[in-house]
Amino acid sequence: MNVNEFEVRNGSTTSKVLVGLPISKIADYCKVTPSVLICDRALSERCSQAFSSTPIIDLKGGESIKSLSNLEALYKSLLELEIDRGSFALIIGGGTVCDMAALAASTFMRGIRFGLVPSTLLAQVDAAIGGKNGINFLGYKNIVGTINQPDFVVCDPSLLETLSQDTYLEGFSEIVKHALIRDKELFSLLENNTELLVKKNLQAVLDIISPAIKVKTEIVSSDQFEHGERMLLNFGHSVAHAIEHIRKISHGHAVSIGMIIEARISAELKGLPSSQIERISKLLRLLGLPTECLVEPDDIFDAILKDKKRRADQIYFAKLEKIGNAKIISLSLKDLKELLHAVC
Ligand SMILES: NC(=O)c1ccc[n+]([C@@H]2O[C@H](COP(=O)([O-])OP(=O)(O)OC[C@H]3O[C@@H](n4cnc5c(N)ncnc54)[C@H](O)[C@@H]3O)[C@@H](O)[C@H]2O)c1
Repeated sequence: MNVNEFEVRNGSTTSKVLVGLPISKIADYCKVTPSVLICDRALSERCSQAFSSTPIIDLKGGESIKSLSNLEALYKSLLELEIDRGSFALIIGGGTVCDMAALAASTFMRGIRFGLVPSTLLAQVDAAIGGKNGINFLGYKNIVGTINQPDFVVCDPSLLETLSQDTYLEGFSEIVKHALIRDKELFSLLENNTELLVKKNLQAVLDIISPAIKVKTEIVSSDQFEHGERMLLNFGHSVAHAIEHIRKISHGHAVSIGMIIEARISAELKGLPSSQIERISKLLRLLGLPTECLVEPDDIFDAILKDKKRRADQIYFAKLEKIGNAKIISLSLKDLKELLHAVC
């Protein structure tokens, strides 16, 4: 068993990310005895085999789980199981279950200890790492939540075997994002292995999960509360969240489209050379991801007004300088509106 370890540093404490650890080895390796498993229903059979004597709360994964009423139902289940402040919750699922259940664990009894086992590619490289959790409220995405690190995150690539091809491929949008903002070698690695990756070759997947996680853990460790560098991780996401709001498409697909629009905006702002936009677009298409906008610029702009990243009449924008390098700039909403009209 070859486990690759990364760290998210948070002041004096450290949260580990363990890549390549099978879920059946978590209790021994991480020295924990979970009091409860909170898992995606798609995985409950596998979870109950790995943790036969632990009570399970299973949840139907998907964006609709991230609601106040589902959070309330989860608190109720935790009370019924007599979970107390000394309990440990092991959360196993995609980004939606991880986001909602980590918020429950962070707030129930003012916070109990928990570990995350992300089960989609998107959650393994992104959603489960960095301590952000949350639910949606009144149409605002991730508007209620906390930043609170789990004790550990375990990425077991074999969990991806049962994922639908569409959901699996969506995870590449966040991997491409990590490559674009910080790691041009990762971008080339993706370009050179698209065929194996699309076929879900688990060794090829493991080889790209690790560098993608390294980008995220380094950025989060340098800026846990998103006052500076962490905003780079929002590349593609201002537009993506707007598109998700309007079209109800998946997060991964919205991020793919969002990255192309924000790459074009970066080129308009004299950052990314426009010749590189086609290179990014080609990689996304080969990975089975959409790149066409499909939404009116005014609708995107109106939805961005609801975004957490907005500050009065400005928005922090991750501007791509070149493949592998981005920086944060402040953009007026007026300029953003014009730019959206120029590129959509
Ligand atoms: N907290 C963060 O920093 C952060 C970052 C990025 C994205 N997110 C959030 O992540 C969410 C998207 O997560 P996602 O893409 O993992 O989607 P998801 O959680 O909705 O999972 C997609 C589907 O796959 C199923 N599934 C999950 N694991 C499976 C498995 N191993 N086998 C078979 N089916 C499985 C789920 O039941 C669901 O139907 C969004 O809500 C987004 O806001 C959070």
